[in-house]
Amino acid sequence: MCGIVGYVGRSEAAPILLDGLRRLEYRGYDSAGVAIVDGDRVETRKCAGRIAALAKLMAEKPASGSFGISHTRWATHGKVNDENAHPHFDASGKIALVHNGVIENYQALKEQLNRDGNHDFHSQTDTEVLAHLIGSIYQQLDGKDSKARLVNAVRAALKQVIGTYGIAVVHANIPDFIIGARRGSPLVLGVGKDENFLASDVSAIVAYTRDAVYLNDFDVVAVERDKFEISSLAGETGDHQVSKVEFTAEDIKKGDYPHYMLKEIFEQPDSVRDAMRGRLSLEDCTAKLGGLNMTPEQLRDVGRVVLTGCGTALHAAMVGEYLIEQLASIPTEVEYASEFRHRNTPMTPDTLVFAVSQSGETADTLGALRESRRKGYRTLGICNNVASTIARESDGGVYMHAGPEIGVAATKSFTSQLVILTLIGLLLGRMRNLSTAEGTRIIKELETLPGQIEEVLKLSDQVKAIAKKYVDVGGMLFFGRQFNFPIAVEGALKMKEITYLFAEGHPSAELKHGIIALVRPDLPSIFIAPDDAVFSKNLNNIEQIKARKGPIIAITSGNGAKQLKGLANEIVSLPDVADCLSPILTVIPLQLLAYHLAVELGRDVDKPRNLAKSVTVE
Ligand code: M6R
Repeated sequence: MCGIVGYVGRSEAAPILLDGLRRLEYRGYDSAGVAIVDGDRVETRKCAGRIAALAKLMAEKPASGSFGISHTRWATHGKVNDENAHPHFDASGKIALVHNGVIENYQALKEQLNRDGNHDFHSQTDTEVLAHLIGSIYQQLDGKDSKARLVNAVRAALKQVIGTYGIAVVHANIPDFIIGARRGSPLVLGVGKDENFLASDVSAIVAYTRDAVYLNDFDVVAVERDKFEISSLAGETGDHQVSKVEFTAEDIKKGDYPHYMLKEIFEQPDSVRDAMRGRLSLEDCTAKLGGLNMTPEQLRDVGRVVLTGCGTALHAAMVGEYLIEQLASIPTEVEYASEFRHRNTPMTPDTLVFAVSQSGETADTLGALRESRRKGYRTLGICNNVASTIARESDGGVYMHAGPEIGVAATKSFTSQLVILTLIGLLLGRMRNLSTAEGTRIIKELETLPGQIEEVLKLSDQVKAIAKKYVDVGGMLFFGRQFNFPIAVEGALKMKEITYLFAEGHPSAELKHGIIALVRPDLPSIFIAPDDAVFSKNLNNIEQIKARKGPIIAITSGNGAKQLKGLANEIVSLPDVADCLSPILTVIPLQLLAYHLAVELGRDVDKPRNLAKSVTVE
């Protein structure tokens, strides 16, 4: 949510900042801006709209200099316009600031500033208040060392802040010097040769350096060309490790695909393979998950599981509930992270909590993780981003290894989460009642999944034809049972977020308890009805819709197609797989349907309106 890029070195800052912003655009795309220091002037260019608009502005009015900061915004305070775009300045016009997060007490700080001095605010943002606060403290501080003075001013201002921030600050009269700080919003330092970088996410800078220091909450970093110093908000210096970024600039290219979303859908044979690589033991008919950091005794003592997350990750958790209960017979519950973190869920001491998050930075999921740990529950992460805050703050966990996911709509991370939740169910199950035969069967079926996904992807043209046929519909209903009920909800979310069509997902049987009133000829119902233990029940519900002239698109498998002939208007037939693994296949035609429909409707697939990939505000 919002992206920051900073550069200090010997090259022209502008192209590096713009390139980094393009890579961070998935974090927000309401407006963008840069502040580049030229001599003792801060040149700023900013405007509402995408990075392309900023690039155009900068082509018309170039800004030169070898250090600067930049920002792409997802609006929280103040509407989307040029004035509210970052950077913002202090009262002197010398200090420029970009910010990701929310300053919750900005009104109180603004009143305080207005009482103490002369402050003209030019925007409605909380960020501008922080810029003025830093400037006002900087004026009051003594000292010849202007760098130390600015660092101290930033520290003192941040101590007064309630809320979250990732910031980058420059001063017109302090050459080659950027300050970064974070609390609750990610910030990473890229370490180069005679140049250094700041960014919200390493993908912005991986083309220039793969050496990174992931800042922790309350870190303040002073960055120069050839050195950096990290200290705490309290002023103490500490040790920080330089890590190698595990992907390259090549991995974040779109290649020949028209959209990241399509690329990521087609990467699923590999991402699913990578999620289970080295984690299956045919010898013991179980999964090996050393990252959980738990002894066999501790795993055996787990009496209850809570899975928490948001959006697509929550839907994966919903499948996880079915999986863990089926394979391990451990009572499992799913909690919206945003609810879990604020309510007093009764928990037993033997509860194991999993926070599921692709980015590992989602504010609500992080809040749930912290709350759970505060209460003393062992809390593990299922994350894709290995350097993320959730990955670092959890007691252990399992990485997805899905590779960077850039499209705002989560696709490959979802199927990786499902594989990992299956592995967790298998591991816990084999420590309890799951037989060697059943364990072996699951492993063998898991191993055939990548090949089966390849088969499903071959249906993309069939799904595209369906999308073209239904392009004028008023919305869509999604239904599924058991393991595929969460897939109905996930299918509806994909449809909503990238086509902007009205869509709802429900358990099939709920149809007759109210939803059937919506059924009409221009509202197709998508039934996720593989040839599984509940196929005949789904068939009944399909009949009920058919009787009311509602069009049916069926996602099925095995013999399902035969039985659906004449009943469903469209039939997408998938390979057969164990019931508990079927969501890993059934979700793919739904991802493709949303994708092709969005393209037909001319939507911005990778950057749908109002959304951002990583939601780091509450
Ligand atoms: O990074 P996370 O997995 O924690 O993100 C959670 C949700 O914000 C995310 O899944 C969101 O719902 C996606 N846009 C769905 O496609």
